[in-house]
Amino acid sequence: MNIAFIGYGNVGAPLADHLQRLGHTVTLAAKDSGSENVRKVQSLNAGIKAVPPKDAVRDAEVVFLATPFQANEEALASVAEELKGKILIDCTNPVGPGLTHGLNNVQSGSEMVQKLVPEAKVVKAFTIYGFENFRDNGYAVYNVKPAMLFCGNDATAKGVVTDLIAQLGWEPVDVGGLDQALHLEHMTLMWVRMVRVNGHSPNLVWAALHR
Ligand SMILES: NC(=O)c1ccc[n+]([C@@H]2O[C@H](COP(=O)([O-])OP(=O)(O)OC[C@H]3O[C@@H](n4cnc5c(N)ncnc54)[C@H](OP(=O)(O)O)[C@@H]3O)[C@@H](O)[C@H]2O)c1
Repeated sequence: MNIAFIGYGNVGAPLADHLQRLGHTVTLAAKDSGSENVRKVQSLNAGIKAVPPKDAVRDAEVVFLATPFQANEEALASVAEELKGKILIDCTNPVGPGLTHGLNNVQSGSEMVQKLVPEAKVVKAFTIYGFENFRDNGYAVYNVKPAMLFCGNDATAKGVVTDLIAQLGWEPVDVGGLDQALHLEHMTLMWVRMVRVNGHSPNLVWAALHR
């Protein structure tokens, strides 16, 4: 698939690299193709090209949004037209002071993203763990796969995201519509507090057991 990344720092870079290694054509939506983060991604994976944001998004079937939450409005405004009808994987989390929910637990960040680009098919995914798990989640030694919980309103978009999650080595767990994003964001805050504050390993991930 043609996949574009808006934002390719801690989160975007390892996902971009992993997806390109799986055979996808990944491009960075880059305002500055010579920036430090572009160079970092290309040192991980020389096959990833950086092109102007409108071109990257126009040519993509799937777009990852991996920007600081407060940058979302600006980042999306410049490619709003090109995003119409596209699958937009929202990797962002609104985080407030003291590791609280950045939108006061009222509205989810992903619903806000959906309002910014109403004609995109927003799916929230790759948000509930730290970036340390995204280049290679490395749990193949166990019989259970780590779970990647995701949500969104468009069934076709979720089908595509399910495949990408599985290709990246996770068990995809569809938790429902975009109204579940608020709860995923709270799950993220729990993980962040456990790992970044209370000393759990950043490789702590959840598994879903079914019977
Ligand atoms: N860090 C984690 O472990 C983690 C895990 C899951 C989810 N998240 C969420 O993922 C998002 C990204 O986190 P991160 O740690 O990857 O951040 P980061 O390392 O700071 O990278 C942010 C990226 O966004 C780009 N960016 C910033 N402002 C922009 C704008 N106005 N327009 C376009 N691009 C812009 C940056 O561009 P430049 O390259 O030009 O600097 C950079 O590539 C956040 O919302 C965070 O809550 C983080």
